[in-house]
Amino acid sequence: MPRLAWLTDVHLNWLDFHQQALFYAHVRGLRADCLVLGGDIAESGDVLYFLKTMAGELHCPLAFVLGNHDFYYSSIHHVRQQVAALCHEHANLTYLTASDYLSLTPRVALMGHDGWADGRAGNYAASNVVLSDYGLIAELAGLNKRERREVLHALGDEAARHVRRVLPLAAGSHEEVWLLTHVPPLREACWHEGRISDDHWAPHFTCQAMGEAILEIMPDFPDRRLTVLCGHTHSEGLAEPLPNVRILTGGAVYGQPRVTRTFELA
Ligand SMILES: [Fe+2]
Ligand SMILES: [Fe+2]
Repeated sequence: MPRLAWLTDVHLNWLDFHQQALFYAHVRGLRADCLVLGGDIAESGDVLYFLKTMAGELHCPLAFVLGNHDFYYSSIHHVRQQVAALCHEHANLTYLTASDYLSLTPRVALMGHDGWADGRAGNYAASNVVLSDYGLIAELAGLNKRERREVLHALGDEAARHVRRVLPLAAGSHEEVWLLTHVPPLREACWHEGRISDDHWAPHFTCQAMGEAILEIMPDFPDRRLTVLCGHTHSEGLAEPLPNVRILTGGAVYGQPRVTRTFELA
């Protein structure tokens, strides 16, 4: 039975070389048939290095999306382009944001998109949260709060368009679909330290446009099951917004990357 290993928010730039080697050995020891990596791998200056290194060190297919930290000190557009080009050079690397879906088994499809916290959940207008994203990512830097919200909406809408196009294809041809993303797609999956994020944090922790797409599409596939794997909040939790949809949010600690969970795929 194929084994899927899920990791999120590994932030490998926090590790020295010795710690990196230990981490790779730990992941290799899982003997996974496929690794899925849910974003916040590192930052723009070293995310390509870490992806290349993992492609060489972890002798199995690696499918991934990017998180907000992966774009720090650069632009979303540029990093996505660089990463997509890298995947053309490494057969075992798949950037799901730039792909449709993979058939992991005849029953199981894997798809994904970076997603983006789109400012729609909670109360954006009243929120006093200012993420580092808003100074360190080119598309967001230098904008006032109203201008920033328009960009956040557009980024969330882009993720939702991907889901609206790919999810029906994957669910139409597979009994199970696994959707990898960085940002929780619904407020109820937006866990933070055992509780749902409050109105100040939810706008910056939820890709509501993607969640709405999922809630619209999955009732059309009552005999299919969707599992969403997300991270970003660094706090674990489970949400089941529909009978055939579960959303797992993975926990994380800076400097202590770990395998979030393994799954045996039927
Ligand atoms: Fe993170
Ligand atoms: Fe993140």
